Amino acid sequence: MDTDISIGTGNPIDRVEGRLKVMGLAKYASEFNVKNLAYAQGINSTIAKGTITAIDTSEAEKQKGVIKILTYKNADKLKHYEEELPAISTSSIQPVLQNADVHYYGEYVGLVIAETFEQAQYAASLVKYTYSEKKPDIDFDSSRGKAYKPTEKSDYSRGNIMQGMAEADVTLEQRYNTPIEHHHPMELHAIIASWNNGDVQAYASQQIIDDATITIADTFQIEKKNVRVIAPFVGGGFGSKLHAKQHVILGVMASKQIGRPVQMTVTRNQMFTNTNLRQRNEQKIQVGAKSDGSLTALSHDTLSHTSTYEEFQESCGTVTKMLYKTPNNKVTHRLMPMNLQTPFAMRAPGEATGSFALESAMDEMAWKLKMDPVDFRVKNDTQVDPSSDKPFSSRLLNECLKIGAEEFGWKNRPQEPGTKEEGNWLVGYGVSGASRRAPYQKTSAKVILELKDTKVRATIQMDATDIGTGSYTIIAQTASEYLNISVSQIDVELGDSDFPKTPGSGGSWGAASFSNGARAACENAITALEEKSGLKAADAGIAKMMQAGNLNLFEAEGTAEPDEEFKKHSVFSFGANFTEVWVDKDTGVFRIKRMLNVASCGKILNPKTAFGQIIGGCAMGAGMAIAEQTKVEPNYGNFITRSFADYHVPVNLDMANIDVIFLPEEDKIANKMGIKGVGELGITSVAASIANAIFNATGKRMRDLPITPEKLIVAQKEPGVA
Ligand code: MOS
Repeated sequence: MDTDISIGTGNPIDRVEGRLKVMGLAKYASEFNVKNLAYAQGINSTIAKGTITAIDTSEAEKQKGVIKILTYKNADKLKHYEEELPAISTSSIQPVLQNADVHYYGEYVGLVIAETFEQAQYAASLVKYTYSEKKPDIDFDSSRGKAYKPTEKSDYSRGNIMQGMAEADVTLEQRYNTPIEHHHPMELHAIIASWNNGDVQAYASQQIIDDATITIADTFQIEKKNVRVIAPFVGGGFGSKLHAKQHVILGVMASKQIGRPVQMTVTRNQMFTNTNLRQRNEQKIQVGAKSDGSLTALSHDTLSHTSTYEEFQESCGTVTKMLYKTPNNKVTHRLMPMNLQTPFAMRAPGEATGSFALESAMDEMAWKLKMDPVDFRVKNDTQVDPSSDKPFSSRLLNECLKIGAEEFGWKNRPQEPGTKEEGNWLVGYGVSGASRRAPYQKTSAKVILELKDTKVRATIQMDATDIGTGSYTIIAQTASEYLNISVSQIDVELGDSDFPKTPGSGGSWGAASFSNGARAACENAITALEEKSGLKAADAGIAKMMQAGNLNLFEAEGTAEPDEEFKKHSVFSFGANFTEVWVDKDTGVFRIKRMLNVASCGKILNPKTAFGQIIGGCAMGAGMAIAEQTKVEPNYGNFITRSFADYHVPVNLDMANIDVIFLPEEDKIANKMGIKGVGELGITSVAASIANAIFNATGKRMRDLPITPEKLIVAQKEPGVA
């Protein structure tokens, strides 16, 4: 008998909002019809460091349709702005146009507001700036002397790393480099802002509605209740839309100044300069192990850059603290202020980059120890998080590795690098482990039940966002499970600050948080209806209970949040990635032939949308490994890669056949529904897995991303490779 997949979680149903999207009916931030709309276009600086000495707006002002030009001279003075801000990475204030200083190439130095988008764009190109220019700090190497310890918690140690290295039979010390990357979700960052006597309404492409609401209120010194932010659909974010960026502030400011609604869309070109980036990291890893493979020491030192006016660090060493059992461990992070925009969280911030270094080093050690890299990792498993001494709520890393090895055909991996051939191709297999925190957070939801004839319709409201991940679908499935009605009887309404508060989408917390919030609301509704009707939900169902209680309309709210058990444990998702690459012997051109990602992330609410998350992560990880890199022009500090013609991402020819296995698991310590996150786990293990496969194919160890054919062809084989 077929099981009914229309009720409950765990079923691979199609996206409930899918039809709206393919029909073009799902509205994104810049698509809302707002009357009397004006358009704003940001103007970008053409120097990386210095001061504006003169601005000539005369030519631009003469243009048809131009309404107003904003610069630091006539911009609103914003709260909290000081010359060089102290660390505000946890704050969401985004000062803009506050003085004549320029901190990086492409920083907003002005804004043209016009009747049409094209008029604003053209006029923006006519505003002339004169600068007093200083030599910018844009060179990574010559900035080393300025490295400092961030104010944010950055260092960690246990045991004694020197002693651990001394006790080891085999040691390794290597550096791994990852370049600047950019997020580039399909939907451009955008806002339509309407300022109305101190009330603000904004359609804005944001991952966290509450954060954007607070930012606008705080920046303009108005009450939060007077700000409404709306984002029913968000076309991807990857971290770049976690906080409100400067265009949000500029959009609101522009509307306030001209007394009309203003749309501001960040162009694809500006997405490189005005929506943050993933910083370049230089990571030094030290590993020590006994000849039986047990780790004696592991250290991870990261050097990266931040801007000259804000601090942000990506915690690359987080993963090294907790993934393997070792008594001696040290993690440090250092930052160099540079004339580049402030970096910010990009999918698995810290884990994706940190795991490339750690899991490459683990592979290098396995080679030195003459151990299988799967066995080496399995040997160093721990069920207690050594960085917090808390037990993991569940940790199936070894299962991911062993099941993955079996399914992938790991036994066919050549023991010696460079020994497996297919025609002119060298074939190699790689593996990498992965972990990513599963930070479930306090979430509220409202359920509205309507009885029509004998049929119930339920509406769930929460300020959660669906950034393409499937939030609508899993929330509908959750409500369906707890109300025991079909998904087709449920409407989910998201992305409005008028709805109950959630943590929004980010950090792999969305699914667990949203679902448990929706569950809490539905459970409260059922309990209240049982009381009112005197019936039991299990026997009667909601419709009968509402009839018995004489109710045509009934509402309930609920809130879920982490409990004491959650706090007593270390809660992470785990995974393993297996990759087969083929490398052309003569040209260094390579193909990712197949990839298997095994994921242990608690209960899977919808295998179809979760699968999409993991293969998306694999594709993004492949981008990190073989293609993506933002290049800084060495004299002026502009980015050379300013479009998709230059900023490369993998295409189908680069990679094929990605498969995913979700280990059956419900982690009831993580939360009542047993859910952990999937959003960031997928990307985490991919870069090292690819680099390790390339080593297995060629005997060449690639420690600088992205790995390109030209780098590969000139690289030397590792000492000891035949
Ligand atoms: Mo994520 S980098 O927290 O959107």
